[in-house]
Amino acid sequence: MDILSRDIFATDILAVAYLIASITFIMGLKMLSHPETARKGNMIAAVGMGIAIVGTIFLSNDSGEYLSNKLWIFLALALGIGVGLRSARTVQMTQMPQMVSLFNGMGGACAALIGLIEIYHVHSTETSKLLAITAGLVIGTISFSGSIIAWGKLTEKFGDKVFPFQQYLNIGLMLIILSVAGSIIFSPVINPVTLYLELILCLVYGVLFVLPIGGADMPVVISLLNSFTGIAAACAGFLYNNKAMLTGGILVGSAGTILTVLMCKAMNRSLTNVLIGAFSATPAHVKGTDDGVVKEVSLADAAVMMSYAKKVMIVPGYGLAVAQAQHTCHELEKALEEKGVEVKYAIHPVAGRMPGHMNVLLAEADVAYPKLLEMEEANNEFLTADVVMILGANDVVNPAAKNDKTSPIYGMPILEVETAKNVIVNKRSMKSGYAGITNALFYQPKTSMLFGDAKQVLQKLISEIKAN
Ligand code: TAP
Repeated sequence: MDILSRDIFATDILAVAYLIASITFIMGLKMLSHPETARKGNMIAAVGMGIAIVGTIFLSNDSGEYLSNKLWIFLALALGIGVGLRSARTVQMTQMPQMVSLFNGMGGACAALIGLIEIYHVHSTETSKLLAITAGLVIGTISFSGSIIAWGKLTEKFGDKVFPFQQYLNIGLMLIILSVAGSIIFSPVINPVTLYLELILCLVYGVLFVLPIGGADMPVVISLLNSFTGIAAACAGFLYNNKAMLTGGILVGSAGTILTVLMCKAMNRSLTNVLIGAFSATPAHVKGTDDGVVKEVSLADAAVMMSYAKKVMIVPGYGLAVAQAQHTCHELEKALEEKGVEVKYAIHPVAGRMPGHMNVLLAEADVAYPKLLEMEEANNEFLTADVVMILGANDVVNPAAKNDKTSPIYGMPILEVETAKNVIVNKRSMKSGYAGITNALFYQPKTSMLFGDAKQVLQKLISEIKAN
């Protein structure tokens, strides 16, 4: 085979590798939509990504010129694999949103760096390429700084910061960013000063955009930043004419956007508000009405109530994840079913700290998927439930979202547990949840509190139920 045929052959094989990668991304994404197939889907997409990476390193060539910096690439890969493996193995389930934010930020930074380097290799007449590079640079940089702030907020390194005219400043800054982007795209030569000014403006915008966002609105922003990174990667894919990068970017961008819209709906927020960073931040610790009497229930009484119920509905929340009580919760379900009790789970879309947190948690404990009811379905079923057992959930069952117009979570759809005959709430104290507000549900006559760590309480409860 002569050199020219070899290069053409390599390019063709690479195109096939990208096609395979793109197909695996689509298959993986589809499989991620169901807990039973999610793990396999993740593996399939990872294999596809591996094929695309190996193909790019060994087969990509520019008129016969192959990559010459393989040593650096392999060093970077080894470093990335090491850090990735270590963090994936050691991360606690409850710290996943922080990790997603951090990784997302890295993706945004990569897209921005590609833009910073490649912009000097594009001729001023190649407007579409300049547009893709500038878009990748702007979106990637905003996603990077925004994700780092989101990570800092989720790890409680920074708090919410709101200042007067924040929305106007954000809008003004975005307009300046767009004008500078226009000047970069249409100027005959790239001026490094303008380029770095744009970079700084985008970094600042990312910070200002995420800093004021209050606790209960964070999931929407994380998902939005995720979609930003996808779009930035797609821009880079367009620039390099790399189909795998383009498909991957588009999939992440569109999946993130769909998730953002779904979460906005679940939290009753408008996307426009998210885009201009106009959420009112949740004041650090807003109090609601907490006058009233709290009724406690003993383990023995709770066990009797549940054993003699026809239907028990379990509402899992962040506290269940903290206590790592998902397996014990599944045991409770089995103990109740042995007594002829029908058990179902009510899943709020933003329960926990990441999208699908409760589904992942319960799938890990082998809870049958059909038993997990989504919010709307669960709200209809509470009417016929004898007991609702709330395990470490708080904001997602807070009636203030429906009744109190002054509440920061007003308008967020909630699990309407009060329609059941009895409500048992397990948590460790009367402390508030993520949104920092008091929950009037705890003071209602049909509510009984069962204090303690979810895992320990559930273990004792199971013994009591079995003894009944
Ligand atoms: P939260 O409102 O955060 O309430 C969790 C409750 O669990 C706390 O009140 C806490 O009370 C209790 N708890 C903590 N550790 C416990 C343990 N070991 N055993 C028993 N209980 C324990 O949780 P939620 O109802 O799931 O609502 C989620 C909140 O997080 C929403 O405000 C949501 O907007 C926000 N958020 C969600 C996401 C996503 S995407 N899901 C992402 C970021 C933020 P004690 O301290 O008294 O035990």
